Amino acid sequence: MITSALIKKFGTLQTPFYYYDLDLLRSTLDEIRKHGIEKGYHIHFAIKANFNNRLLQIIRDAGLGVDCVSGPEIERAIEAGFKPDQIAFAGVGKTDEEIQTGLKYNIFSFNCESLQELAVLNDLAAASGKKANVAVRLNPNIKAKTHKYISTGLMENKFGITPDKLPELFNLLPGLTSLNLKGIHFHIGSQIRQLDPFLQLCEKINIIREQFEQEGIELEHLNLGGGYGINYANPDEEPIPDFKSFFELFRQNLADTENQQVHFELGRSIVGQCGNLISKVLFVKKGISTNFAIIDAGMTELIRPALYQAEHRVDVLTSDKPKKYYDVVGPICETSDTFRKDIELPELQRGDLVAIRSAGAYGEVMSSSFNLRKKVDAYYSDELV
Ligand code: LLP
Repeated sequence: MITSALIKKFGTLQTPFYYYDLDLLRSTLDEIRKHGIEKGYHIHFAIKANFNNRLLQIIRDAGLGVDCVSGPEIERAIEAGFKPDQIAFAGVGKTDEEIQTGLKYNIFSFNCESLQELAVLNDLAAASGKKANVAVRLNPNIKAKTHKYISTGLMENKFGITPDKLPELFNLLPGLTSLNLKGIHFHIGSQIRQLDPFLQLCEKINIIREQFEQEGIELEHLNLGGGYGINYANPDEEPIPDFKSFFELFRQNLADTENQQVHFELGRSIVGQCGNLISKVLFVKKGISTNFAIIDAGMTELIRPALYQAEHRVDVLTSDKPKKYYDVVGPICETSDTFRKDIELPELQRGDLVAIRSAGAYGEVMSSSFNLRKKVDAYYSDELV
């Protein structure tokens, strides 16, 4: 919650900056514990959503593992105190060096995305005298009903092994003697707000699992990936996603999993709502049909609006004047550097503060130095009280 005392503090800090509400993060993790971990599910935090150390420590203390997509993410997770047997490693383009990093730590699972990757991993594991734990990532051809850039489970997407390659996979496996096939992995996309793509995923998994069983392959785990969405339009109405319904759907629709571990890799739904990008109005300019509120944060701090046409809620923290229409834009020399178009906000003037909400996932981590901009600071609710 952004109180008036907090807004006063914000006024003394150099903008723009990220502000994280750690109480909200803890309450979100409590819900995940209650409806997920305590029901026997294994949850990995998708570290790509936010690799900020303060957040990682809280997430680790709540008993989650981690899902990485690069060697440096594995190193960051280890530094933050996650155990190697809690680390899953996905990614369509793992380099040899990154594979070596995973082998060095003997991680929980390499989630392999092609037959060629399996062969390369096998060779590298053999060369270092190790056996690699593997899950094959399968592409279930499911429409995730999300932005096309963050949809990953369709045949046309680059991710995973398509089911038509299963016979080839079954032929290859006996020769891959430096691999332990432990599981199968899926991830159909991100910011999925409706549950029915997950229902379809369960149905596909039930079928695919049988194909493995018919080959006499016992799978120790199923990894269903992440993708659960958050409410960007009204974060205060739904600060914590409905994890009860999410996990319940899998409990009801995945066929008998008593002898199998079920893993998830959640990113956005864990950290999305606890982060805010706080920015100051630099100038207000009258356009032909709108007013421009030019703020000191831009696509360099939060690229989601420019890249996915994402609409983050903008709250004005320091004005309660009658409302006017604004395009809220950043300072970067690109028209795509626009946070919102034509929204009604209390009248703004130079120096007013705004909070760009729901910026905890894929915000700070996707920032860039375009225009030679400096990386902005992060502050936490427990240090600004
Ligand atoms: N597992 C795998 C294999 C993934 O590729 C991802 C996200 C996740 C888990 C976590 O997904 P989540 O629960 O956060 O939806 N930058 C984009 C999102 C890209 C997601 C990439 N993969 C955005 O800002 O919307």
